[in-house]
Amino acid sequence: MFAIPIRPADQTDAEAITMLIRRTLRVSNAADYSVTEINRVYAGFSLERVLARIRNQDVFVAEIDGEIVGTGAYARGQLWALFVSPERQRLGLGTLLVDHIEDFARQRGLEKLELSASLTGVEFYERLGYQRLGYFPHPSGATYAMAKALA
Ligand SMILES: CC(C)(COP(=O)(O)OP(=O)(O)OC[C@H]1O[C@@H](n2cnc3c(N)ncnc32)[C@H](O)[C@@H]1OP(=O)(O)O)[C@@H](O)C(=O)NCCC(=O)NCCS
Repeated sequence: MFAIPIRPADQTDAEAITMLIRRTLRVSNAADYSVTEINRVYAGFSLERVLARIRNQDVFVAEIDGEIVGTGAYARGQLWALFVSPERQRLGLGTLLVDHIEDFARQRGLEKLELSASLTGVEFYERLGYQRLGYFPHPSGATYAMAKALA
């Protein structure tokens, strides 16, 4: 595995995070969801909402040569909004981000990490030890509730 710095995001990262998430939705998640579903999620990742997430959650970014290529967040016992740039997927970046967020949660005494997985991400999370707890259809697209005990 190559060494990629993962650091907390700040407000100056909001635009790059917004663009990364929105592009990944259109390129990667479009394979599993309808245009209407993608558009709903896309609207939820406006610059204003990403700025609010950076204020209210612990948002992390992975950076290569000054470019933000991945992001994920922790809040209220859950992992949120994990996205890796389409060109950088299957290189281990998603795993690095999840490992980082698991360590962050462990340091805060959390015994179990929960998340809501996209259909696109569910096999990735299973590979990392998360279990499916339930299937939730939704107008913004179906997800699986998943969880993993943090040893
Ligand atoms: C899910 C996501 C974050 C994974 O990031 P990634 O950097 O590609 O993941 P990794 O390279 O660490 O993958 C680790 C392993 O997970 C599994 N995996 C990853 N993506 C997978 C996929 N699309 N289908 C099946 N298994 C997958 C593989 O076993 C992979 O190992 P391998 O490449 O040696 O076969 C990325 O695909 C993504 O951004 N998807 C779109 C956004 C999304 O749906 N995020 C989840 C929201 S909850």
